[in-house]
Amino acid sequence: MAPKLTMDKFVSLCKRRGFVFQGSEIYGGIGGFWDYGPLGVELKNNIKRAWWKAVVQERPDMVGLDAAIVMNPRVWVASGHVETFADPMVDCKSCKRRFRADELAREHPEPEAAHGHAPPAYPTRCPECGGELTAPRMFNLMFRTYVGPIDVEAEFTRAIQELQGEDWERASARIRDLKDELDRATAYLRPETAQGIFVNFDNVQTTARKKLPFGIAQIGKAFRNEVTPGNFIFRDREFEQMEIEFFVRPGTDEEWHKHWVEERYSWYRRYGIREENLRVRRLEPDELAHYAKDTYEIEYLFPMGWSELEGIANRTDFDLRRHSEYSGRQLTYFDDETGEHIVPYVIEPSAGVDRCFMAFMMDAYDEEEVRGETRAVLRLHPALAPVKVAVLPLSRHEDLVPVARRVWDLLRPHFMTQYDDAQSIGRRYRRQDEIGTPYCVTIDFDTLQDEAVTIRDRDSMAQVRVPIANLVSALKERLGDP
Ligand code: GAP
Repeated sequence: MAPKLTMDKFVSLCKRRGFVFQGSEIYGGIGGFWDYGPLGVELKNNIKRAWWKAVVQERPDMVGLDAAIVMNPRVWVASGHVETFADPMVDCKSCKRRFRADELAREHPEPEAAHGHAPPAYPTRCPECGGELTAPRMFNLMFRTYVGPIDVEAEFTRAIQELQGEDWERASARIRDLKDELDRATAYLRPETAQGIFVNFDNVQTTARKKLPFGIAQIGKAFRNEVTPGNFIFRDREFEQMEIEFFVRPGTDEEWHKHWVEERYSWYRRYGIREENLRVRRLEPDELAHYAKDTYEIEYLFPMGWSELEGIANRTDFDLRRHSEYSGRQLTYFDDETGEHIVPYVIEPSAGVDRCFMAFMMDAYDEEEVRGETRAVLRLHPALAPVKVAVLPLSRHEDLVPVARRVWDLLRPHFMTQYDDAQSIGRRYRRQDEIGTPYCVTIDFDTLQDEAVTIRDRDSMAQVRVPIANLVSALKERLGDP
């Protein structure tokens, strides 16, 4: 069954219920940046926790890392990002719109040219207004910043003022000096978390005393100045990655590649994504990144069609060799079996938190008829649900409130909870259903007599009566291992 949420409905639900807001909304927003609200941050944290549990906590061969976002800029020269991490971009000379040329070529291919001439590689006409497009220019996706007490704009303004009336030779020498100064201060916001792992390969290997095969996992922000951010939080300029670099003996890489594709596919299934909305696709040779020998994508059936959730690449020994070459530090592993220093191969499962967020929410969304009304329900896996338990007094009656507060106090140390006493109980159940709360606990007038409450199940809507004294254990049993 395809997801029931259209993109518009999804964006509206996210905003209305406090999952995702437009970044800097009160100033008109900023393209490609999003803020996660009170429920969004819970869901996001739960996704990250579920990933960490599966790939670090439960495995004997993995350890974690949290490397800095800003790294020595030579890292990005060694990794190939300075040279190759770019998208071709075209501008319309009439309407001034900007497009990614490779996307345009796919979506609006140029018609076959006459007399056997090949069509141009990229479209030449604007798909919006028909105007002429510029030739493609390569646009590096890395965000630049300057480290240290340097103010680029002020430096240039001062230089321009100083240069007025200068002769050309002195002026160009000053500009060259300034450019050198800026180059020395230039750094980048990381476009992937992976490089933080590669440059720490030796540190981790020696301190964690791991033997091959072993892996390093990291979760963190990444930044790409995407030419065309879009599809809500699918393609952002600031996003979060969950990446693993798994180091193996050369020659065993293909076997481990298969292992990780299966592992990662099962993780999405374990946390509730339906089989029919998930697929694995092997990339064609012309789709591979500059470092990859082979890559599989795990794709989800989003409203805009099958799109990448996670890439699982065989990066060979590309990165460790390049960093050894550029840094002068040998990044090798001493192989006890052969008595040799070897450069391990790397399998890299790399997932986007924001895309997982979208997929888990979209897949969990359901609508059903209940007593002539449509019930919207987010059937999230309990481990992912932002709120685990809602505490709902039947009314704001003065006898019920103290008991309901006492129950809430009892639950808060154990679960993420919400207390809601506004509007009818039916509407409150619907509100909790729509945000995916697995259990509601209702306090009614019988509670005053029997010290018991009702637990209502989100999916079946079944209700059972439980003594307050057993409530925490009853909920823990139902919620399972978080
Ligand atoms: N280290 C390998 C790497 O970064 P990638 O395919 O470019 O590979 C990995 O990115 C994952 O990061 C993607 O599968 C996607 O989930 C996420 N991702 C990449 N670019 C993104 C963007 N602009 N916005 C949101 N998520 C993105």
